[in-house]
Amino acid sequence: MDSGFVQQDFQRRLSHIPPLGMGLSVDVYSPDLFELVATFRERGLQPGYLEVFKATTTALTAVRRAMPDIALAYHGEGLWITQPDVQESPYFQQDVGEMVTQLNSIQSLWLNHECATKQMAGYSFGTYLPPLYTRLSAEVVAENIAMVQQAVDRQGRRADGTAPLFLLEMPPLTYFSAGTIPIPHFFRLITALTPCGLVLDIGHLWTVYRYTAACRRISLERFVQEFLDEFPLERVVEIHVAGLACHESVGEPKREEGLPEWIDAHAAPIPSILFTMLEQVLAHPNLVGLRAVALEVDTKPSEMIVEEYAEAVRRFSLLIQQTMAQGAVVEQSMELTPRQASVQEAVCQSDRQQLRDDYTHYAQIISGQAPMTGPEWQEVAAEATGVTRYRTSYVPHEILHWGGDLTEMFPQTCRAITERGTCLTEFVTFWFRSPRPLTHSYDFFLLKIERFLEFVTERAPDVRDCVQQECGMLRQAYAQVNELEEPVMEMERIR
Ligand SMILES: [Fe+2]
Repeated sequence: MDSGFVQQDFQRRLSHIPPLGMGLSVDVYSPDLFELVATFRERGLQPGYLEVFKATTTALTAVRRAMPDIALAYHGEGLWITQPDVQESPYFQQDVGEMVTQLNSIQSLWLNHECATKQMAGYSFGTYLPPLYTRLSAEVVAENIAMVQQAVDRQGRRADGTAPLFLLEMPPLTYFSAGTIPIPHFFRLITALTPCGLVLDIGHLWTVYRYTAACRRISLERFVQEFLDEFPLERVVEIHVAGLACHESVGEPKREEGLPEWIDAHAAPIPSILFTMLEQVLAHPNLVGLRAVALEVDTKPSEMIVEEYAEAVRRFSLLIQQTMAQGAVVEQSMELTPRQASVQEAVCQSDRQQLRDDYTHYAQIISGQAPMTGPEWQEVAAEATGVTRYRTSYVPHEILHWGGDLTEMFPQTCRAITERGTCLTEFVTFWFRSPRPLTHSYDFFLLKIERFLEFVTERAPDVRDCVQQECGMLRQAYAQVNELEEPVMEMERIR
């Protein structure tokens, strides 16, 4: 497809999405969505739409039924479209099928997915990792998106002939970013190849400033201006605004240390600097396809959500309406012909293999098994504090505590192995010792159980019965609780 046709195809798809204004990006469970919407109503507020994070299909169907008057959209998870081998994964087709079912269950207007992964080259992580920002990587992402869009077109088509549009969200940086091309160029390459829309997350944009050389070179305002001039802003359909905070494994900075080491943190308050950046984004003349702006509030206390939303509506709803109206004028002047999404095999096998090797290297570097070599890592190596922070504080915390604290999950086993002289931190090294084939769709909690059983069996074989018993109880509780559609434990997410 040439880029003119791609743009026209995007416009046609976009024309089926109405302007929604300001809304919320939420989780069904945390905080409880039904209670949150009731609290909003008590205060005389109603979000313009809700973007709902992946949950069970039953829970999503219940949301659709309980809120017939609210437009719904979908925030997907688990389609690792940055990865060169994702289409070969035995679980990918199944995951895409489940996602289309969920899109249909809420009659979603779009499918938003991060341009990020939690698994690469057989290594698993708990939170999002950005792609390698290279030309080849952009081509692979475009091809994978086209494949998903084609499946959505086939299986998710509505009675009126429309289908949900794939929106690609620029992911956050967590202390570092590797690649050879600027991030805005990367997204421009993707949008030239495939008719997807984009989600611009203002907090993620702040982390791009913070964890690239930009923060040492120019002011934040100048960075945002330069970024927006290069980024394919005409493809941005939705904007996200969410909290930022220092990670608990790092702690708060001392005042004199300059910019804080904030990362994406949805439970945290939205810093005022993000609203200043939002103003700058909304004023940009290239923002012609905007349909919606969401505060992303999963895991945040309800009271804080209400306060932040009311304030954001007061400050921005008129500006957002004006921005959406300007875009509508541009669209009316376009002639739109229906077109099927097509998947072109542009990336040859040897290039895919090259990218696979690059991602193996990526996983080994950030888990401390390989030195930073190669052009993608040149800039990261020059300012190595970020990747060191990730490798020495963030990743160990993720494996030992995040999404299930090992000492809470396996109290007896942890006591027994400590008595035998095994330190829990050895589990981190064990986790990354070698890549392993996937045995199910991505589930960090189940993976922790599986890997901890292997670890204990190897290090303390006489504790095997104990760990097996605790694994069995955890798996059973997890299955039961998921059937009841309640979270087994508060699992903080970073998206
Ligand atoms: Fe977001």
